[in-house]
Amino acid sequence: MKPRPRPIERTEATPAAKVIRLTMPAMRDEDVAVVLGKRGTGKSYWTKQHLRELSGAHPGRIVVWDPMEEYGEGSDRTRNPPQLPALQSADIEDFGALAEDAHTRGPLMVAVHAWQKRKTDRVEAFRHFTAILEECRNLLLVIDEAGSIPRDNWADEIEHIATRSRHWAMPVVFVAQRAVQVPPNAREQATRIVSFRQDRPQDIDALTERMGPKAEELRHLKRRQFVAWFEEETFDAPGEQHGENHRA
Ligand SMILES: Nc1ncnc2c1ncn2[C@@H]1O[C@H](COP(=O)(O)OP(=O)(O)OP(=O)(O)O)[C@@H](O)[C@H]1O
Ligand SMILES: [Mg+2]
Repeated sequence: MKPRPRPIERTEATPAAKVIRLTMPAMRDEDVAVVLGKRGTGKSYWTKQHLRELSGAHPGRIVVWDPMEEYGEGSDRTRNPPQLPALQSADIEDFGALAEDAHTRGPLMVAVHAWQKRKTDRVEAFRHFTAILEECRNLLLVIDEAGSIPRDNWADEIEHIATRSRHWAMPVVFVAQRAVQVPPNAREQATRIVSFRQDRPQDIDALTERMGPKAEELRHLKRRQFVAWFEEETFDAPGEQHGENHRA
């Protein structure tokens, strides 16, 4: 039986930042999560903050495609949440070696850096990354900046991951600024959507297909507010009934 998602709960948050942590069931191998929102709304922060919960079924095995170098040890581009597990920074070659050693079991906590200026190089790097992943099993995969390469160039790779990852025992999280940057096949596979502000009609339409009318709320969110949707059910925070704003 599928575990029922628990509602959004307030927990020990950083008071200044009014961080609301979302309690969610561990990702199952068949789960695909999509984290969306305009630039700077807090997607990467949220993802870092929830890595452990997201990786529940595969503790100690997290691989992040991290072109902006925000997740690994020593990353200093953004303020990191205290919950961020220690991820080793690696380029693609290093990742290949680490993945080979850890193969399908054993610790593998890596943030993979690969930021190429030229589009063709970025696509090549991502293909290489995907090829290494195919040999791995049992890990949480996070792809941040999933929208940073034009769709026609890497939609194949993303859709391949989104449709095959279940067979690799690999729950996946895609992080992108806009819903339409996530290829349709990958969006359709999404069992969880966490969306910060979105206001373009195409994005709202794309999300309405999956989340229903709740997608309309996304237009009105402030920075760091989000709406969470799980395939099983949509839920509201207890605070909302009291007129409080639950969305951090
Ligand atoms: N809940 C939070 N509490 C404290 N700081 C936060 C929070 N959310 C985001 N931030 C900070 O705000 C900045 C922007 O957040 P973040 O990098 O997560 O945005 P983003 O949505 O990933 O943007 P982009 O699309 O450009 O990657 C960062 O410096 C981050 O550390
Ligand atoms: Mg980001």
